[in-house]
Amino acid sequence: MTQTPRVDLFDPDFKANPYPAYAGLRSEAPVHRVALPDGRGIWLVTRYEDVSAILKDERFVKDYRNAMTPEQLAQIPPIPEVMKPLARNMLDTDPPDHERLRSLVQKAFTPRLIERMRPRVQAIADALLDVVQDRGKMDLIDDYAFLLPITVIAELLGVSAEDRNKFREWSNAAVSGDTTQEYMEQILLPHMQAFTDYLRAMFEEKRKNPKDDLNSGLVRAEEAGDSLSEDELLGMMFLLLIAGHETTVNLIGNGMLALLQHPVQLRKLKDDPSLIKPAIEELLRYDGPVETSTERFAREDIAIGGTVIPRGEMVMVVIASADHDPERFADPDALDITRTDNKHLAFGKGIHFCLGAPLARMEGQIAINTLLRRMPELRLADSPESLTWRPGMVLRGLKGLPVEF
Ligand code: HEM
Repeated sequence: MTQTPRVDLFDPDFKANPYPAYAGLRSEAPVHRVALPDGRGIWLVTRYEDVSAILKDERFVKDYRNAMTPEQLAQIPPIPEVMKPLARNMLDTDPPDHERLRSLVQKAFTPRLIERMRPRVQAIADALLDVVQDRGKMDLIDDYAFLLPITVIAELLGVSAEDRNKFREWSNAAVSGDTTQEYMEQILLPHMQAFTDYLRAMFEEKRKNPKDDLNSGLVRAEEAGDSLSEDELLGMMFLLLIAGHETTVNLIGNGMLALLQHPVQLRKLKDDPSLIKPAIEELLRYDGPVETSTERFAREDIAIGGTVIPRGEMVMVVIASADHDPERFADPDALDITRTDNKHLAFGKGIHFCLGAPLARMEGQIAINTLLRRMPELRLADSPESLTWRPGMVLRGLKGLPVEF
C-alpha cells in the first residue's frame, strides 16, 4: 500500500498546495486521524460523498457537551471566561438553540433583500478602485479584497466601518486556529477581550440611540428577553462580523489568482461578463475560501466508509478535497468557468449551510467583474511561487496578492 500523505494544516508548504495530499487521502485513507499541534486528535474526512453525508448527519454535533461522555468532558481544559459568550453563536450550537439563533437573522440575508444591496456594493467596489487606479499597482488583498466585504458587513450590521482595521486584527487572531498556550495567553485572549469590550460598548450605544440596522434590531430582541441572551447577542455579532469578511476576502483573492493563472478562462470572462455567475461557482469549487469545515463531534460511535469514529471525537470534513473528488466532478483539477454540473460544498450543507451565501455570491460577482472591467491589463506582480498562504485550519487564503495594471 502507498504511504498515507502527510497533512499539516499549519505548515506553509502544505498550505501552498494541499490538493495532491488530499487526493492521496481520498484514495488511501479517506477517514484519517491526525494530531493537532496542541496534541488533540482530529478525524479528517476527504471524499465528497462522506463529507456531504456528515454535514447532514445530526449525530455529528457542534457543541461537544452534546457528544462527550462525562469522563471525556472531565479532560477538557476550562474555557477562559472571555471566550464563553463568543461560543454562544449559531455555528457552535445544536438544535433547538441553533434554529432560534438563526431565525433571528435569517430574514436579513434572503436573496431578495441582499439583491437590493447590489448598487451599494457596486459603489463600494468602485470607490476602492478609485483610490488605487492611478497607482498602477496594489496589493489585491489589502487594498480591495479585504476592504470590500468588511465595509459591506459593517454597514449591514450597523458597525462603524472606520474600525475595520481593529476587526481585522481581532478576527485574524480568532481564526488563526493556533491553540498553543503561548498564543492563547499573548495574542488570542487579549484580542478577544478587546473585541468583547468594543462590542459591549457598541450595544450600549445602540440601546441609547437605536438605528435602522441589524445590530439595533438584535439589541431590541435581547432587551425583549426571551429570544436572545446578552451572551448570545455577543456571540451573534462576533460570528457575523468574522464570517462576513474572513471568507469573502478569500473568494476574491483565491478567485483572482486562479483566473490570472488560467488566461483562457480569464479571457472568456472578460469577453462575456455575463458568465460571472457560473464563474463564481467554479472559483468557489476550484480553490474555495473554506478548506475544512469547522469542527463537529460524534455523538455516538459512527462508521464512515468502514472506519469507526468513536463517540466524543472531533471531526473536520475537508471541503477543498470533496470539491476535487473525481467521483463527483469531471476533470476536477481543471478550472472551467462554464461548468454546469457544479454542486460544490464551498458553503457547507445541512442546517449550518452558510447564512451569508447570497451576500458572498453577490460580492464576489461584483468584485471580480468590476476589477476586470476597470483594470483589463491586471496581472500578477510576482511569481505565484512567491505568494504565501495564511496558516491554520478552516480558512484558505493568501496573505497578500501583489498585482500590476
Ligand atoms: C465566499 C464566502 C463564504 C464562504 C465560502 C462561506 C462558507 C461557509 C461554510 C462552509 C459554512 C458552514 C461551516 C460548517 O458547517 O462547519 C458557513 C456558515 C456560516 N456562514 Fe458563511 N461563507 C461565506 C460568506 C459568509 C458571509 C458573507 C456571511 C455573512 C454574514 C456568512 C455567514 C455565515 C454564518 C452565520 C454561518 C453559520 C450558519 C449556521 O451555523 O447556521 N458567511 N459559511
